Amino acid sequence: MKSRIVTIDGPAGSGKSTVSRELARRLGWSFLDTGAMYRALAYAAAEEGQDLGDEKGVAEIAGRQNFEFTPSSEGIKVFLDRRDISKEIRSPEVTASVSRIASSVVLRRLLVEMQRDFAQKAGDMVTEGRDQGSVVFPDADVKFYLDAGVKIRAQRRAAELEASGQRVDIQDVMKAIEKRDLADKSREAAPLVCPEDAIVIDSSNISAEQVTERMLSAVKEII
Ligand code: DC
Repeated sequence: MKSRIVTIDGPAGSGKSTVSRELARRLGWSFLDTGAMYRALAYAAAEEGQDLGDEKGVAEIAGRQNFEFTPSSEGIKVFLDRRDISKEIRSPEVTASVSRIASSVVLRRLLVEMQRDFAQKAGDMVTEGRDQGSVVFPDADVKFYLDAGVKIRAQRRAAELEASGQRVDIQDVMKAIEKRDLADKSREAAPLVCPEDAIVIDSSNISAEQVTERMLSAVKEII
């Protein structure tokens, strides 16, 4: 039987990671966090002192290094040549620099290939990102677009950062989110869009559990 794919796209802080992981867990399917792939490449390149604006140099690192993405209860675990870099890829430095990778047509092509390869081996899968339903898996069985107001997304991101021990100013977090939204939506290469055939969910006033429930019933109805 052909493997089934559910895509979840949306802006930073919309709650995609939490609900995609939980949806995959309840369905008993594989899970892919594609943002972690972009982050892992940004981290590996920076670690080698590679200028992120030099696409060829970064592409060479992507081809040479061995990246592994394994789901776990706390999120996706990322290994670079067997070294666990799951925490490092969430640092403010990586968060600030990763859009340079995400805006490159050449590097996106490589990462899209990695995502399709992952899907080949994963079986039924829930995948989340910015372009999963629009570009990477246009024939996905069910597509969701998860959104939320910028203020609530900033509050969630600040709470996450505080929980991981980082001190934050909510205004700075909001500015950073607005900047990222603009970069994600206005870039030429695969900008963040809501796929035409996606089910749109606004998570501003509902919990992650309620979002997961809605998704789960939609998936069960369609599949
Ligand atoms: O979701 P995230 O914050 O971990 O994503 C990290 C960066 O990668 C962010 O700048 C958006 C970008 N990204 C993308 O362009 N396409 C994807 N499918 C996933 C993430």
